[in-house]
Amino acid sequence: MTEGLILTLAVLGGTGKQGPALAYRWARAGYHVLIGSRTQENAEAAAAALNERLGGEIVRGLTNEAAARQCNIAVLTVPYSAHRPMLEGLRPALAGKVLVDITVPLGADVTRASMPPAGSACLEAQEILGPDVQVVAAFQNISSVHLADDQPIPCDVLVCGDVPSAREQVLHLVEAAGLTGWDAGPLQNAMVVEGLTSVLLGINKRYKTRGAGIRITGIAPPRKE
Ligand SMILES: NC(=O)c1ccc[n+]([C@@H]2O[C@H](COP(=O)([O-])OP(=O)(O)OC[C@H]3O[C@@H](n4cnc5c(N)ncnc54)[C@H](OP(=O)(O)O)[C@@H]3O)[C@@H](O)[C@H]2O)c1
Repeated sequence: MTEGLILTLAVLGGTGKQGPALAYRWARAGYHVLIGSRTQENAEAAAAALNERLGGEIVRGLTNEAAARQCNIAVLTVPYSAHRPMLEGLRPALAGKVLVDITVPLGADVTRASMPPAGSACLEAQEILGPDVQVVAAFQNISSVHLADDQPIPCDVLVCGDVPSAREQVLHLVEAAGLTGWDAGPLQNAMVVEGLTSVLLGINKRYKTRGAGIRITGIAPPRKE
């Protein structure tokens, strides 16, 4: 976390599987966390469940719009079918911010990589939001099976984005969530990262497991600061 400044993170669509798991890990690491939902009621219920687990009134529940307005960094955790409408609606609220997009554009057969015309969900997000928002891809290859645990996770996270300082901020969030992050270059590379999720889902199916992930080898993990 940047010294002297506690960032506020908004987890948009944070009431499902990935959102609360990430929110819990970041709240535990000392970030201010807002849970966003289409309804205030759902957001408050998800925040209350997290606060009970955290043992304090740490997380707040808001509508997606209010959470996006009040945060420094937003994290989008919705199914691909909700991706475009959410981003179109939140564009003004997200202006000037970093958006971490974890979306995977899964088709009917989730084990076959399938990218939208923009090239990937993250490239599509950047197209929709324009240059005012710095879109960063992360967390596509980590299963909710692991994230929901309380433990550090032996799985790596590839972080792609066109602005190096934004990638750096997200690498800190990855570390705060108990994972190892790697700077994986420009946002264009998100098509590989998003597509890799279908490979992992295929491996889960073939080997009858649930939490296949990735690990970068041939290099020591980046030094934690
Ligand atoms: N689950 C995994 O293991 C996993 C792993 C890697 C990547 N991902 C990616 O992460 C993203 C989130 O996955 P998830 O499993 O957490 O999703 P999820 O549980 O199915 O949904 C998350 C939240 O999205 C909101 N939502 C659903 N439909 C919506 C719509 N039409 N419009 C606006 N909001 C809507 C809902 O919140 P409200 O009803 O409260 O608004 C819901 O609680 C997906 O893109 C997925 O591909 C998932």
